[in-house]
Amino acid sequence: MYDELENLHKACFPKKPWSASDFADLKKSGCDIIASQNGFVVWRVVADEAEIITIGVHPDARKSGIASAMLAIIENDIKKRGGKKIFLEVAENNEPARKLYEANGYKKIGIRPKYYDGIDAILMEKAL
Ligand SMILES: CC(C)(COP(=O)(O)OP(=O)(O)OC[C@H]1O[C@@H](n2cnc3c(N)ncnc32)[C@H](O)[C@@H]1OP(=O)(O)O)[C@@H](O)C(=O)NCCC(=O)NCCS
Repeated sequence: MYDELENLHKACFPKKPWSASDFADLKKSGCDIIASQNGFVVWRVVADEAEIITIGVHPDARKSGIASAMLAIIENDIKKRGGKKIFLEVAENNEPARKLYEANGYKKIGIRPKYYDGIDAILMEKAL
């Protein structure tokens, strides 16, 4: 499973690919992962708060609702486990991801200046 995720991650994030062992380490550290042929999400729930670590959809499968569907699945999981809020960070210049989160009810709550190689990170939150 992690080898396939490695390939999918490379297609989604060609400049910063994660290895199969990075995914195995995330799982060992308590993160949850869902993955299909075309998309994946890594998230973590701690007490009543959750964090989306990463989300990606294969370039050939984008703009068909896969990321929104995956968000709905994990939000449901987080809610069932008692999660009340979800947090994430997104690069200020990542328009597809910012639009995805806005379309799914995530609100900007702050900025981490120059967080990603000189690009600001936007902090977002969704209350469940
Ligand atoms: C961001 C990403 C996960 C979106 O995946 P997706 O499956 O294409 O998203 P969806 O089809 O579910 O889109 C849901 C909404 O997001 C917005 N959106 C998605 N891609 C968009 C784009 N390229 N431009 C503008 N809005 C976009 C739209 O509002 C869309 O709703 P609509 O299609 O009804 O207009 C995908 O582009 C990706 O993998 N990017 C590279 C990895 C990445 O940057 N991950 C996020 C790191 S924080």
